[in-house]
Amino acid sequence: MTEAAPSPVPLFELSTGYWASKTLATAYELRLFARLSGTPGMTCREVAEHWEIDERPARMLLTGCASLGLLEKTGDRYRNSPLSEAYLVPGKPHHFGGLITMLDQRLYAAWGRLTEAVRANQPVTWDSDRVRSLFESQDPVVTDTFWESMHTLSSFTGEALSTAVDLGGARRLLDVGGGSGALAMALCRHWPGMKATVYDLPSVTGIATRHIEAAGMTGRVRTVDGDFFADASLPEGHDVHTFSNVLHDWREADAALLLKKSFDALAPGGLLVIAGYFVNEEQTGPPLAALMGLAQLIETEGRAYTASEYAGWAAEAGFVDPRTVSLQSVGANGVLTARKPAAEHRDA
Ligand SMILES: C[S@@+](CC[C@H](N)C(=O)[O-])C[C@H]1O[C@@H](n2cnc3c(N)ncnc32)[C@H](O)[C@@H]1O
Repeated sequence: MTEAAPSPVPLFELSTGYWASKTLATAYELRLFARLSGTPGMTCREVAEHWEIDERPARMLLTGCASLGLLEKTGDRYRNSPLSEAYLVPGKPHHFGGLITMLDQRLYAAWGRLTEAVRANQPVTWDSDRVRSLFESQDPVVTDTFWESMHTLSSFTGEALSTAVDLGGARRLLDVGGGSGALAMALCRHWPGMKATVYDLPSVTGIATRHIEAAGMTGRVRTVDGDFFADASLPEGHDVHTFSNVLHDWREADAALLLKKSFDALAPGGLLVIAGYFVNEEQTGPPLAALMGLAQLIETEGRAYTASEYAGWAAEAGFVDPRTVSLQSVGANGVLTARKPAAEHRDA
């Protein structure tokens, strides 16, 4: 007797996964959620008239969004669900649109070349013969969308990290590859005794400066231009170093090198904090972390690492007392902390 085959439904759901993400992205691109925000909703006919489209696609888009939990319907009017009202309306504090735009306008096409990336073991979004990494790309779609999407994610990571790791005794934080400054600002908001430095490429610190000024945090968060590979050392005078979604961008040896540079520059007794998507030790998931690994294949020369891999490089650099904390956030699922010994230990 043969065993019954499993249901093929999961395969259908997996292979049509992009139908849902494209429905979300199109509704967001058309500013549907922005238009519906704060209104009692619109009928299908009103939507068609407002966007000057036929009622047929309007009906399908509205039904699709309602089926995905993005809209709710009362009578014949569609209005934002709590999810879209909170996150899909530009200008709201937890606006998530930067990530949706980047994934749709830049990475949707790139993921269409995943097989090519798997065969070649090379990123597909930039030319490795011409630039050293994604971060040096001159493609305006990259520069316009990448850091806005990181800002979206890192605001959430920063908030989650604020309560996951005790930084109460810290005075000065260096956010290495700190991007838009979202993480540094979130941590400074939570820990009033702390000031932060966002250290990133000169092309990026201007973006951070704009965000810091807009948030009214210029007295607490500053930026320093640099290149963590080209610079002989990281900026000194800090007692916490954060690496948020940075090390997974690089090969093993480069990630280890950055942790060595961190150890050398960090104040004795200082804390190293690595946040990101960690794959489990068995390398079987969780799905978002595993797929983040493939996102690194599309975009970088790194991959999603395990907590033990980070802990191993941290130990090689001289850090002690590694601890892993799981993080419930959209920007990261884990944190590894380790400490630089308070005083140099010498072998007898
Ligand atoms: C994936 S982003 C993460 C940004 C930020 N940590 C966050 O969580 O939003 C990686 C960051 O590393 C920065 N970066 C890349 N190469 C760098 C380099 N050589 N020196 C300094 N920063 C660099 C990028 O500009 C970018 O802001």
